[in-house]
Amino acid sequence: MPIQKVGVIGCGLMGSGIAQVCAQAGFPTVVREVSMELVEKGLKGIEKNLTRMVEKGAITEAAKSEIRGRLKGTTSLGDLKDCNVIIEAIIEQLGTKRELFAALDALCPKATIFASNTSSLTITELATATKRPDRFVGLHFFNPVPVMKLVEVAKTIATDPAVYEEMVAFGAKLGKTPVRASDKPGFIVNRLLVPYLLDAIRALEEGVGSTEDIDNSMKLGCGYPMGPFTLLDFVGLDTTYYIANIMFDEFREKRFAPPALLKRMVLAGWNGRKAGRGFYDYSDPQKPKPVIF
Ligand code: 3HC
Repeated sequence: MPIQKVGVIGCGLMGSGIAQVCAQAGFPTVVREVSMELVEKGLKGIEKNLTRMVEKGAITEAAKSEIRGRLKGTTSLGDLKDCNVIIEAIIEQLGTKRELFAALDALCPKATIFASNTSSLTITELATATKRPDRFVGLHFFNPVPVMKLVEVAKTIATDPAVYEEMVAFGAKLGKTPVRASDKPGFIVNRLLVPYLLDAIRALEEGVGSTEDIDNSMKLGCGYPMGPFTLLDFVGLDTTYYIANIMFDEFREKRFAPPALLKRMVLAGWNGRKAGRGFYDYSDPQKPKPVIF
């Protein structure tokens, strides 16, 4: 059955971005959060993004209202039962995700395809919470979702090849470039990105250069849009620490081991931009100042 309606679970930073691109691509989209407050917060963020697009002339006011009209927020899982694809973008906790997928499995028709936006958990372990591991894929988007052009589509040994191809095509319909990845922690991007970010922290610990100088080196010397510390603060230090630990557990390789400084910053709650402090201090968000360790 062609994909006609999409469900997104989680309306945080990633979930709201995913819901936005689905609605922009023309799919009626239902996005679910645990409280109406969180639904409204997520939809407000989407509204802000769409308004910015109208101001820049990227879309018309009429297109904006059509996109908004395709989006429905809810707190009830039951409102997603007639969606052909459901994309999960909730907290990175295996138990919580497995419980959610088991509940969806009981609720949805057999044909519904399930996808997880997990960045590091094993898709197979999520899929086995359901009776449909053949209709289960990883669909990993990048922050900020409306801007970043990539989606990683991950298949497990149990994914039906026809379902997989349908999801690769779906990624393209969302206006993204889909890449094919297998079910290994970190897929392609985080497999390469996480050791790079951890190495930047080790370089700082060893006194190779200052936070700003290391950032400027990769930005101006290699053309990266953000230096590693700006990117770490953007992604979240807690998120990076969590992903690194999962990858280290799987691969047992030093390059995935979180450096001591990262662990201490997470323990201190210095989780990056969202916490107001990480490798930079965001007291003045327009002029972040490097934190001196
Ligand atoms: N939502 C929607 N649009 C946004 C946005 C957001 N949160 N943030 C920026 N934009 C848009 C702006 O409106 C602007 O659009 P325009 O070109 O049409 O005018 C465009 O993006 C550029 O924004 P700015 O001019 O404000 O700023 P920059 O040029 O510095 O770009 C950036 C911002 C796109 C975030 C850029 O710095 C970048 O690409 N950074 C790297 C991001 C990255 O690496 N993301 C991946 C993280 S890893 C990940 O997500 C995986 C996970 O598993 C850890």
